[in-house]
Amino acid sequence: MKRRQFVAAAPAAAMAARLEDARAEFPWASRETYLNTATEHPLAARTSRTMEEYLHALTHGPDSARDRFENGTLMRGVKSMFARLVHASPDEIGFTPSTQTGENLVIEGLDIMARGGNVVTNDLHYGGSLLNYRSRQKAGLDVRIVAHREHQMDFRDLEKVVDRKTRLIAIALVSNVNGYVHEVRRIADLAHAHGAYLYCDAIQAAGAVPIDVGAMGIDFLACSAYKWLMGGRFGYLYVRQDLQGRVLKPKLFGGRSTASGASRYEISTVSHLGCVCQHAALEYLLALGVDRIGAHARPLVARLMKELPAAGYPSITPTGTESPICSFTVKDPDAARAKLKKAGVVVTLGGSGGTGSMRVSVSVFNNGDDVTRLVAALS
Ligand SMILES: Cc1ncc(COP(=O)(O)O)c(C=O)c1O
Repeated sequence: MKRRQFVAAAPAAAMAARLEDARAEFPWASRETYLNTATEHPLAARTSRTMEEYLHALTHGPDSARDRFENGTLMRGVKSMFARLVHASPDEIGFTPSTQTGENLVIEGLDIMARGGNVVTNDLHYGGSLLNYRSRQKAGLDVRIVAHREHQMDFRDLEKVVDRKTRLIAIALVSNVNGYVHEVRRIADLAHAHGAYLYCDAIQAAGAVPIDVGAMGIDFLACSAYKWLMGGRFGYLYVRQDLQGRVLKPKLFGGRSTASGASRYEISTVSHLGCVCQHAALEYLLALGVDRIGAHARPLVARLMKELPAAGYPSITPTGTESPICSFTVKDPDAARAKLKKAGVVVTLGGSGGTGSMRVSVSVFNNGDDVTRLVAALS
């Protein structure tokens, strides 16, 4: 077979995808009560199979077998699918190793400090990003970190600190702390009215909630794939077309610097394994549809938000939050941890000794029995 034919045949053809069958697609869900996708999504069996084929080709060759997976068509396919997911154009999408790499490329590329500008963020942003901003603050950057009120962003607090020197507002579209969904369009309008740009960390949003970068006014967005995009230590950077090069300057250079569109920010060749994983995962995710994924999570989250507070775990997620993540206060995290371990329930549980917090997240493979088991274990 000629190389071109191999390329056209790869990867494994898309299989039918129905939400009703999702549990069987994720064997992990039958082994443990896994309510922890906000930390990491299990791999779908179909995604593993594709990766196994690729690993087989890498191990045994021949070259033509490897070419089925390492080719421009596959990489363009992945960019197109991600672009579809966030309603961008494929040339607004570049690959990046991770969310935080993308955020650093944005901060550096905007020349914020050299221009005497400031950055506005808030304490519902990811801890690693806050560490990044605090380190830059120590180095002299004007950083304004707005505190949440009752676990959500009060828009008036944001308005107070944004001024004409603000160059960037950086938020987690969906907060990893409690699943809170920011008022993105309103924040974008505030940024733009001051000549600033909006960066969204979308790792807890992409694949979990609808995203339309144009309608939401997002200028830059980054995310990794290992949470709601269903797998791969692999990520994306969206850069609005008219900001590429002109406003967001590439600051790190390499073989990919001459690429067009947002690919110019890639620097090096990306992880092919991540790309192969994402090709299969995004095909599946898009076939399921983000709207249907959201509709599946909603009643499960509603039950968690009702039953866990009734069992003595008050929620720190605002009522009506439209994300698959909800968090709760836990009086005795060590006791809760022991109970969950005994029941084979996996969530994110923070703290030891005093009061702790518990984050529960729901994906396509979860069902009502998972919620019942969690609540029963903690009651
Ligand atoms: C909101 C948020 N941002 C960033 C990260 C880290 O992302 P990455 O490993 O892709 O840099 C996480 C991980 O939990 C997160 O929840």
